[in-house]
Amino acid sequence: MSSGLASIPKTAPFSEEDVALLNRVVGPASAVQRAWLAGFLAGVESATGQQPQPAALARPAEPLTIVYASESGNSEKLAGDIAKSARKNGLKPTVIDMADLDLAALTSARKLVFVAATWGEGDPPARAVRAYNELMGEGAPRLDGVEFGVLALGDTAYVEFCAIGKKIDERLAALGGKRVVDRVDCDLDFAEPAARWIGDAVKVLTPPNAGGRVIEVDFGGKPAAPASTDIIEAEITEHVDLNSSRSDKETIHLALSFEHGAPAYEPGDSLDLYPENDPAYVDGLLKLAGLAGDEKLRGDFIRSRDVTTLSLKAVETYAEKTGHQYVKALIADGQAREWIAGRQLIDLIATFPIALDAETLRALTRPLAPRAYSIASSRREVGDEAHLLISAVRYDSHGRQRKGVASNFVAERLKRGGRVRVKLKPNKHFALPAPDKDVIMVGPGTGVAPFRAFVQERRATQASGRSWLFFGDRTFTHDFLYQLDWQDALKDGALTRMDVAFSRDTPEKVYVQHKIWEKRHDVVAWLDGGANLYVCGDAKAMAKDVRVALVKAYADVKSLTPEAAEQAVRDLEKDHRYLQDVY
Ligand SMILES: Cc1cc2nc3c(=O)[nH]c(=O)nc-3n(C[C@H](O)[C@H](O)[C@H](O)COP(=O)(O)OP(=O)(O)OC[C@H]3O[C@@H](n4cnc5c(N)ncnc54)[C@H](O)[C@@H]3O)c2cc1C
Ligand SMILES: Cc1cc2nc3c(=O)[nH]c(=O)nc-3n(C[C@H](O)[C@H](O)[C@H](O)COP(=O)(O)O)c2cc1C
Repeated sequence: MSSGLASIPKTAPFSEEDVALLNRVVGPASAVQRAWLAGFLAGVESATGQQPQPAALARPAEPLTIVYASESGNSEKLAGDIAKSARKNGLKPTVIDMADLDLAALTSARKLVFVAATWGEGDPPARAVRAYNELMGEGAPRLDGVEFGVLALGDTAYVEFCAIGKKIDERLAALGGKRVVDRVDCDLDFAEPAARWIGDAVKVLTPPNAGGRVIEVDFGGKPAAPASTDIIEAEITEHVDLNSSRSDKETIHLALSFEHGAPAYEPGDSLDLYPENDPAYVDGLLKLAGLAGDEKLRGDFIRSRDVTTLSLKAVETYAEKTGHQYVKALIADGQAREWIAGRQLIDLIATFPIALDAETLRALTRPLAPRAYSIASSRREVGDEAHLLISAVRYDSHGRQRKGVASNFVAERLKRGGRVRVKLKPNKHFALPAPDKDVIMVGPGTGVAPFRAFVQERRATQASGRSWLFFGDRTFTHDFLYQLDWQDALKDGALTRMDVAFSRDTPEKVYVQHKIWEKRHDVVAWLDGGANLYVCGDAKAMAKDVRVALVKAYADVKSLTPEAAEQAVRDLEKDHRYLQDVY
């Protein structure tokens, strides 16, 4: 059995333990195995360009714990980037979704990184709520001496910019952690600042002499970015308002077709849609700024700058660049935060006019970000198409009519035969379960979009599990989105049950949460039988109200205390059976 190879000498530049380990592998290896190993190691050396370092004593790679709190995947992706970079530097990273975080595990971490997004109005991502509350709660463990850094993701359009990253950063320090990298708060264009932060953080967290000496070979290799997540152009083949002409809402069903095949989306995924600004708004803005004739700026503003969002940072930049006394006073008096609520960039310039040059005006804007839309179709049913359901956002504030950028770009300026740029945004956390499992879907308004994909998928795959949809909107007659689809699905069995709540059809407003309460015995029975519960749509009120209704349902149906009922729902969340995609 023995190959006759002399064993690794004790003088080899390895610890005694490692010599024993190597002997255990190399000793009995066959000639072919030894030749392969020699060639492999030589290949690694020449590929990395590293020369052997004879005097160095190898040491085990130092662990790095990376926790991410993510809803739409940005923080998750960055956590993966940190892990890759850390591995290259000789650290041994473990990446944990905050949804699965056991807080006790943090106490054994020596080096810790959090990447945290903020959602709602300064809330944690839905999946991270449990662990976040535990971290903030009295029972959180001490983290004395744990070296940490936090990367925060957010959007300066929100008053509570990066609130969750900020709070986690403070909390880790309060629990005794040692901040070794300063937090960076990233806006929507996070790629560059995040990459810089990752570079700095990994450098700081790498112990001296570790980098480059501990060679960890990534056998998986760096996967090439899948082509399906590139930005691609789609043709609009259907553009239909699903509300009746007498509705006060406009919800567009958009069918997209792709010249080279649809991106490889799954039910639950979204598409990022790249909008253009309303030319009329841009013209108004340029006129107020005294830059009406600047065609280059106009084109740029329509296509690629966010010219509507008014952030605190933009107000500060305005004060700094123009020296405007009233704006300076607004900031000095601490009133700027309140003033920007419900206002846009155009209001700042209209209220505090001053001569502006193109560069100053541009400095008040940021890159125009895409908007996500749940895919409302299954490829197994629609082939190389993807369907979206987009509600036109329109409202009045501070005496002006406002129009959401992307939704009105779609509703007012995209037409059948036109083209639009989109990018697949996969969401593996909002996927269908095995075909034989039951699903309960709660999707009022545009929240119903992914469930059209779910139902189509279940039909196409002849899934045996039952499907129950809770839908709601304003009125049965004018706002019953995809009514015919649901009727067909009920007929052919792709949908087992449907409950609807039309809030404006009755004197007393009825919403989906009321229907869940009404049907609580069956809801709890389905969940006890192993069903998954999905919620999609409004995050501010609906998703919270649905959760409250579910806790109450458990308490009532199973005669549980409020605490035990809360725990029952928490268990569903922890088991990834209560899934949300809310916005
Ligand atoms: C994962 C995900 C999936 C989504 N899926 C869908 C979908 O299937 N269908 C869909 O229609 N949308 C969906 N959205 C929402 C969508 O991405 C956009 O946010 C929405 O269309 C508005 O974008 P907009 O560019 O038209 O508006 P924006 O120009 O971004 O303006 C929206 C902003 O206007 C302000 N605003 C809005 N209404 C009011 C009001 N009444 N009073 C005061 N201020 C207000 C708020 O500040 C709000 O953030 C989804 C979002 C996410 C994150
Ligand atoms: C509905 C919604 C609410 C949001 N609320 C906030 C907020 O209150 N504060 C903030 O800084 N960012 C907010 N954001 C921006 C996100 O934090 C940002 O898009 C981030 O990159 C998402 O990271 P994730 O993909 O890891 O979830 C919000 C985004 C959406 C779509």
